Amino acid sequence: MDTKNVLITIFGGTGDLAKRKLYPSLFRLYQKGNLSDNFAVIGTARRPWSDETYHEVVKESIASFQPSDKEAQDFASHFYYQSHNVKDTDHYDVLNNLSDRLDEKYDIQGNRIFYLAMSPNFFGTIVSRLKSQGMLDTKGYHRVIIEKPFGNDYQSATQLNDEINQVFSEEEIYRIDHYLGKEMIQNISAIRFANLIFESIWNNRYIDNIQISLAEEVGVEERGGYYDQSGALKDMVQNHILQMLSLLAMEPPVAFSEKEIRTEKIKALESIRMYSEEEVRNNFVRGQYVEGEIDNHSFKGYRDEENVDENSLTETFVAGKFLIDNFRWSGVPFYIRTGKHLTEKGTRINVVFKQVPVNVFKNSVTGPYEQKRLEPNVLTIYIQPTEGFSLTINGKEIGQGFQTDPIKLEHRNSADLIENTPEAYEKLLLDVLNGDGTNFTHWDEVAQSWRIVDRIRETWDKDQKTPPGYSAGTMGPKEAYQLLEKEDRHWIWEP
Ligand code: BG6
Repeated sequence: MDTKNVLITIFGGTGDLAKRKLYPSLFRLYQKGNLSDNFAVIGTARRPWSDETYHEVVKESIASFQPSDKEAQDFASHFYYQSHNVKDTDHYDVLNNLSDRLDEKYDIQGNRIFYLAMSPNFFGTIVSRLKSQGMLDTKGYHRVIIEKPFGNDYQSATQLNDEINQVFSEEEIYRIDHYLGKEMIQNISAIRFANLIFESIWNNRYIDNIQISLAEEVGVEERGGYYDQSGALKDMVQNHILQMLSLLAMEPPVAFSEKEIRTEKIKALESIRMYSEEEVRNNFVRGQYVEGEIDNHSFKGYRDEENVDENSLTETFVAGKFLIDNFRWSGVPFYIRTGKHLTEKGTRINVVFKQVPVNVFKNSVTGPYEQKRLEPNVLTIYIQPTEGFSLTINGKEIGQGFQTDPIKLEHRNSADLIENTPEAYEKLLLDVLNGDGTNFTHWDEVAQSWRIVDRIRETWDKDQKTPPGYSAGTMGPKEAYQLLEKEDRHWIWEP
């Protein structure tokens, strides 16, 4: 059986994600031969589009690749549109007939991928209808890709998972966290496990703290309705940040395989300290943007955004400290922060190493200057928009005397290289075609992440306080700085 023969049914085929990410990614896979001619895509949504309209939409979404007319047409011809009401059982029969016809036409051999790219409220209904209407009665593989958010808290996530599990087994479920498809996130494992100099000091004896920053320049844009119910904690921390943290903190896996990596990530997440209410208040801060300027553009405050409650208490910024209670990490804070309308777009990790036991250069008699405190060694992993790493080490300043000077050893991937590396969604879709779940989140990871985040959320909900304001264009409220200052530390990245 060739796994490239596949029918992909996208629920939410007219949506933004499909247009911005899925169709372009499928096109790249098609160009590279990762999808053969034996594939078809059915796009479904409520609106009554024709196949012709759909083809135009698909072609438009791949226009930036500048394909020839023939290439664009050949690709788009594999796409079929079916207007669909997810609650209507009869509609699944229509879908099933179309699927069978396409299966025969493209010799697909029964392989099915279902992509759920719409409101999570419908996930349970869709999967149960897929089963009841016989859409899974084919002989090939069946896989379901699920977009975030996977639930709204631990309880709703569990319910959703139970519903999906009635139909698909864990191995057939691909829960997307698109950060796991990013080149430099995947590189965390290479840096850690392919370099003795790092892995041997990757612990609380040598690392002082780790900082994870996911800054966005954009505000909530047209997603106010969703975001006001979610907030930064659920939108970014529950998934992307805790996933990054688990990759940074996990023990070396026995092998670089789906099963082994998942096992270690889950253990890392389970070692994160569950805070009491008081600890949440001491270790987590939030913020909400008020009007401000970025690059001479003024932006309105969050409460004035469309579909946002004018008295909203939702946070658009969160900073916090996680502690991991295991032998490797005991006592090492993992500081995290993320927010909308910050100074610039940038995702980076700073691993801050401890000071040498004694600063022998302090008050050096050979130096003309009084020696300041040594700068810490910092390993920075640049995730986006630039990709690469740097290591800051102390050297001697050139000249008379003995003054130390921090030097940055830096590697950045070139713009050309970045341009040509596959986009996260392209990589993840290929993983699903290959049946490789390494870069997807296992249920146990999702469950534990919700448990951690629910604790924080519950305390905030109880407090019912307006989050401190921060001007659009800054790196969050002063409380985010105080969080580190009170422990005699500071954010390494200060754009
Ligand atoms: C999504 C969030 O998961 O990630 C968005 O819902 C956020 O609010 C986005 O903007 C950020 O992704 P990226 O790839 O642009 O960093």
